[in-house]
Amino acid sequence: MATLSSLLLTALLWVPVGTLTCYGDSGQPVDWFVVYKLPAHTGSGDATQNGLRYKYFDEHSEDWSDGVGFINSTTGAVGRSLLPLYRNNNSQLAFVLYNDQPPKSSESKDSSSRGHTKGVLLLDQEGGFWLIHSVPNFPPRASSAVYSWPPGAQKYGQTLICVSFPLTQFLDISKQLTYTYPLVYDHRLEGDFAQKFPYLEEVVKGHHVRQGPWNSSVTLTSKKGATFQSFAKFGNFGDDLYSGWLAEALGSTLQVQFWQRSSGILPSNCSGAQHVFDVTQTAFPGPAGPAFNATEDHSKWCVTPKGPWACVGDMNRNQREEHRGGGTLCAQMLWKAFKPLVKAWEPCEKKSRAYSLGSPAGLWT
Ligand SMILES: *[C@@H]1O[C@H](CO)[C@@H](O)[C@H](O)[C@H]1NC(C)=O
Ligand SMILES: *[C@@H]1O[C@H](CO)[C@@H](O)[C@H](O)[C@H]1NC(C)=O
Ligand SMILES: *[C@@H]1O[C@H](CO)[C@@H](O)[C@H](O)[C@H]1NC(C)=O
Ligand SMILES: *[C@@H]1O[C@H](CO)[C@@H](O)[C@H](O)[C@H]1NC(C)=O
Ligand SMILES: *[C@@H]1O[C@H](CO)[C@@H](O)[C@H](O)[C@H]1NC(C)=O
Repeated sequence: MATLSSLLLTALLWVPVGTLTCYGDSGQPVDWFVVYKLPAHTGSGDATQNGLRYKYFDEHSEDWSDGVGFINSTTGAVGRSLLPLYRNNNSQLAFVLYNDQPPKSSESKDSSSRGHTKGVLLLDQEGGFWLIHSVPNFPPRASSAVYSWPPGAQKYGQTLICVSFPLTQFLDISKQLTYTYPLVYDHRLEGDFAQKFPYLEEVVKGHHVRQGPWNSSVTLTSKKGATFQSFAKFGNFGDDLYSGWLAEALGSTLQVQFWQRSSGILPSNCSGAQHVFDVTQTAFPGPAGPAFNATEDHSKWCVTPKGPWACVGDMNRNQREEHRGGGTLCAQMLWKAFKPLVKAWEPCEKKSRAYSLGSPAGLWT
C-alpha cells in the first residue's frame, strides 16, 4: 500500500521535461492520436453543434470513442494540443503552420503550385509534435491568440493525426517537407532552431527538392518508440500517390477515402499487381455508428484491407494532384482503427478486372 501511494505521489509530482506533446481527449499527454471529425448531417439534435462532433482513437484505444466535447473546444485533443501556440509565453517554441488553403488574410498567396498539404509542426528544445490534417483554413495563426475551428470546415468529415516526436526526428520530418512543398502561412524559427533544422528554414522560404528522385520515404520513431512510415512526393513525381507508389510500397491492395467533389477524380485502379479502390461509404461500427458517403467527407486516409497498414495524410486521388506535392503517414497501429470503417468502395471496371489477378468482388463483405 505504501509503495502504491508513493508511486502515485511520484506520478503526480513528476513533470516530464519535454511537455510539448500531443494531448489526448483525457487531457493527458499521449504519444499519438487520430481524430475523425464527422460530417454535419450525421448528427441529430442541435443543428449548430452538428459538424463539431468527432470520434477519437489513441495508443490506448481498442475502438473509436466519442470525442469529449466539440472540435472547437480546447478541452478536446486537437484544441488542447494546439494551446501552446496561442499562449503569450510561447517565445521558447518553434512552429511551422502550413496549409494550401490558409486562414483568410489580406495577402492571399497563390497556392496552386504548392503541395496539397496541411499541418503543424510545434516544438521546443526537447521535441514536439507533427499534426497532419485535412482541414481548410486551419489552424488560426499564433497571433490570433485563441484556438478556433473554421465555420467552413464544419459541414464535411475531416481527419487529423498528431504524433509526439523527440527533437532529432524533426530533421527527417523537415526533409520530407522539402518534397511536399507546403504553403507556410505562419512560423517561428528563432534562436538555434534555424541552425538545428536547416531544411525547415528552406521550407519556410519556399524552397523545395531540386533533383530526383521526386519521392522520399522515411521511418519515424515517436517519443514512446512507435514506428511510423512517412511517404512524401514532390509535384514532379507526376503520378498518383496511391496507385503510383503506396500500394506497391506497402505490398497490398489499398482502399482510399478522399474528397470526391473535385474534377478529374481517378477511378479505382486494378492495372497494377496491387489494386487501389476508391472508398464510397464509411461507417463506424455499432448500430448507432454514424455512416456517410465519401461525398460528405473531406478526410484523406487509406487502409490495406488484410492488414497491417493504415495511413492518414494529405492527398486525394485526382489528376491535378498527380502533379502536386503531398504525402501520408502510415502505421500498423492505425490498422485496427481504420479497417472496420470501410463500408463500400468502387470496384474496378470489368475490362481491367478481367486482366487482374484475384477478384475485387471477392473482397465485398
Ligand atoms: C463551438 O461552436 C458552437 C457552435 O457554433 C458554439 O455554440 C460554441 O460556443 C463554440 N465553442 C467554443 C468553445 O468556441
Ligand atoms: C505558460 O503559461 C501557462 C499558463 O497560461 C503555464 O501553464 C505554462 O507552464 C507556461 N509555460 C511556460 C514555458 O512558462
Ligand atoms: C493505374 O495506375 C497506374 C500507376 O499509377 C497508372 O500508370 C495507370 O495509368 C492507372 N490507370 C488508370 C486507368 O488510371
Ligand atoms: C519512389 O516511387 C517509386 C514508385 O513510383 C518507387 O519504386 C521508389 O522506390 C520510390 N523512391 C523512394 C526513394 O522511395
Ligand atoms: C449516398 O449517396 C447515394 C447516391 O450516391 C445516395 O442515394 C444516398 O442517399 C447517400 N447516403 C447518404 C447517407 O448521404
